[in-house]
Amino acid sequence: MKNVKRMRKYLFYLSGENEKLAKAEVEFLLKSYSKFRLIEEDKQILVCEGNGNIKRLALTHEACEFVTSCEIDDLEDVFRSLEYPETKICVRVKNVGGKKLDAAKAERELGAILWKRGAEVSVSNPEAIIKVYLANKAFVGFLIQKTDTKQFLIRKPTNKPFFMPNVVLPRFARALVNLSGVRENEVLLDPMCGTGTFLIEAGLMNIEILGIDPFEKIVSGCRENLRYYGLKANVLMGDAKKLPFKDNSIDAIVTDFPYLQSTKSFGSLMDLYYKATEEFSRVLKSKRFAVIVSNIDFDELLGNYFKIVGKFYQRIHKNLTRRIYLCLKDY
Ligand SMILES: C[S@@+](CC[C@H](N)C(=O)[O-])C[C@H]1O[C@@H](n2cnc3c(N)ncnc32)[C@H](O)[C@@H]1O
Repeated sequence: MKNVKRMRKYLFYLSGENEKLAKAEVEFLLKSYSKFRLIEEDKQILVCEGNGNIKRLALTHEACEFVTSCEIDDLEDVFRSLEYPETKICVRVKNVGGKKLDAAKAERELGAILWKRGAEVSVSNPEAIIKVYLANKAFVGFLIQKTDTKQFLIRKPTNKPFFMPNVVLPRFARALVNLSGVRENEVLLDPMCGTGTFLIEAGLMNIEILGIDPFEKIVSGCRENLRYYGLKANVLMGDAKKLPFKDNSIDAIVTDFPYLQSTKSFGSLMDLYYKATEEFSRVLKSKRFAVIVSNIDFDELLGNYFKIVGKFYQRIHKNLTRRIYLCLKDY
């Protein structure tokens, strides 16, 4: 059931690593819970209306309750009439994509405006933080959350009991799970699961997970990884060309095809692309998404089964650029 909570106005400060993907992550995560309305975007800044579990976001640095946007020159005027809470507050200024102002000086000056108006300002121990992001314009909001990026380093592939080279990194994997629009307690399938990076990120967000891989050693390694994170080891030995699931039974698919540089295909790779794509569309529920990663372009084949809603790129090195397809069934 869709969440019917009131829409909120959010201000997101996104990671600059892959802005397009970071924006799409916010959009499709929020759309899975509520309506979504884009209000403004400016470099790594996104202002939108929606609702949802924003704690899940991976490619967002910070999220705020949106207050206003203005020309940078008008910031002081905005602070002269800004509503502030009756708690200890402080102002933090961040230049986004190039220096516009001396951030420390701007923090002091804007903080002083609030202090003169009677606000309790505490730089060392604030209870509320007013963020000001300086992109082409200035964006003002109350900080709600900062993404814990350390967790992704702790879960890096070499820290897992079972390791394979060239696998997707946890932060990126989490963003792709969110892109799929899967909600808590729904079922996410990775039909070519390898070490289980997508499954682990999804499982840690309370999503039901299912994995498939044809190689016994990989299946047992993936199960070991899932147990290591306290997750159910729902991994079957099988073939993505012939999935053991009913039609229209899966809420989301997030997966990446073998690259052949380091991961083998079970049978011919071309055969896998053709038959697995058809299988993905068969088992996925209507109007739901598959996020499919590949090192080749295969828009035409995908287009036979899905509407390609988004296509993103991630360059790993000169011989590997990942294509990330966001595919909608029954559009
Ligand atoms: C790029 S890797 C996936 C890596 C994975 N995302 C991870 O986090 O480790 C591709 C996987 O596809 C699996 N694979 C190859 N042929 C397959 C087939 N016919 N059906 C299902 N999986 C297959 C490989 O064993 C490999 O684990």
